Amino acid sequence: MDKIVIAGGIPLKGEVSISGAKNAALPILAAALLAPAQHTLHNVPNLADIRTAKRLLENLGARFADGPDGLSVDTRDLTSWEAPYDLVKTMRAAVLVLGPLVARLGRARVSLPGGCAIGARPINLHLKGLEEMGVKITLQHGYVEAAVKRLEGAEIILDFPTVTGTENLLMAATLARGRTVIKNAAQEPEVADLARFLQAMGADIQGIGSDVLTVHGVKQLQSARYRIMPDRIEAGTYLAAAAITRGEVTIRQAPVEHLTAVIDKFIEAGLRLKVDQDIISVRPGGSLTGVDLKTMPYPGFPTDMQAQFMAAMALARGVSVITESIFEKRFMHISELRRLGADIVVSGNQAVVRGVKSLQGAPVMATDLRASASLILAGLGAQGQTEVHRVYHLDRGYERIENKLSALGATIWREKA
Ligand code: EPZ
Repeated sequence: MDKIVIAGGIPLKGEVSISGAKNAALPILAAALLAPAQHTLHNVPNLADIRTAKRLLENLGARFADGPDGLSVDTRDLTSWEAPYDLVKTMRAAVLVLGPLVARLGRARVSLPGGCAIGARPINLHLKGLEEMGVKITLQHGYVEAAVKRLEGAEIILDFPTVTGTENLLMAATLARGRTVIKNAAQEPEVADLARFLQAMGADIQGIGSDVLTVHGVKQLQSARYRIMPDRIEAGTYLAAAAITRGEVTIRQAPVEHLTAVIDKFIEAGLRLKVDQDIISVRPGGSLTGVDLKTMPYPGFPTDMQAQFMAAMALARGVSVITESIFEKRFMHISELRRLGADIVVSGNQAVVRGVKSLQGAPVMATDLRASASLILAGLGAQGQTEVHRVYHLDRGYERIENKLSALGATIWREKA
């Protein structure tokens, strides 16, 4: 297993470009299963999770070809309808093939995703919505067995605006008979990116970007060419890296319009930045002060930026109260941040962060994707050397993070642990 080593305390300087969004590419790859066609996708990020998703689709019969004109996905001949345990256990987003397989083939056998480091993460809302569309769902030997003759449009009200739940139901609805209305739908930008890809395939979807999605099912969808949106969480992570090192960084291809809550929070904390089209320029000077934060469904502050923001608050002046309202266990990074000298006390879903003058480098352990990003950030801001172990978590969601950070002047490298 690899580890990433950082010699901290260096202000970052320079420019970084943001890659395609992991959480848009994953549902869009699943959506390719809806039609017997050849699609071309641009700006697909080079990540472990994307490689896992490609393996999953190949297991189902899809074929990929990487070309100068982007990634081509051929889903004309599907040979299976099963998402096996060994793939789902490494990437719970594999559950996104459930809706498309049921819509295309009338059946699916998908391993129930277990819990993960950040919470139980059930998929009951995905299954309830599919049942309302006429799907017969049985749970056997850790698998979801789904079968339906013909999907029927339905009016679905989600108890919670689940992101992948909304995406699974949206994909199924595109081929259901009649009209489907999904209320309390997730409004994350990645859901809208999926919806636009589905429209490019010929789906009839209204309400994109809102919490009510109305879909009129069609008989068949066609091939499409689509460019994946930039990754707002990657962009937010580099914003936090510039903040924690008091650096001077320009972030290009940043989805500024999807980062309002994050940018506003950093400005409230005293970060000096300029926004211009899809460029965010962080300017030096100005020190961070502690601000309170509560993670919320979009357009609120994203839970996927909570750990990174907390790392920045660990070195801010004063106190920040950070409330995690989406996942019940998304504080796994705190005990590791404490090893670096952070002063953080947890009570329930709230963390009270008292800024300290400096953090001291130390060996730490990554537990999940965004926790590992938070530890990298803290290492960049710490005095001395930090080693982040189990960085396979990091590689799931960040494209060449140590290369991009080195290009910004960080002293950071990867070693065999
Ligand atoms: C998506 O996960 C993202 N993953 C997560 O990003 C992100 O943290 C999360 O949305 C919230 O924004 C992808 O898009 C691939 P949810 P998802 O369903 O869809 C509860 C990352 O770092 N819930 O919106 O699994 C659930 O337990 C990852 O890139 C149910 O109770 O999140 C949680 O508390 C981590 N029943 C809350 O809703 C359900 O059927 C939010 O979950 C579904 C969800």
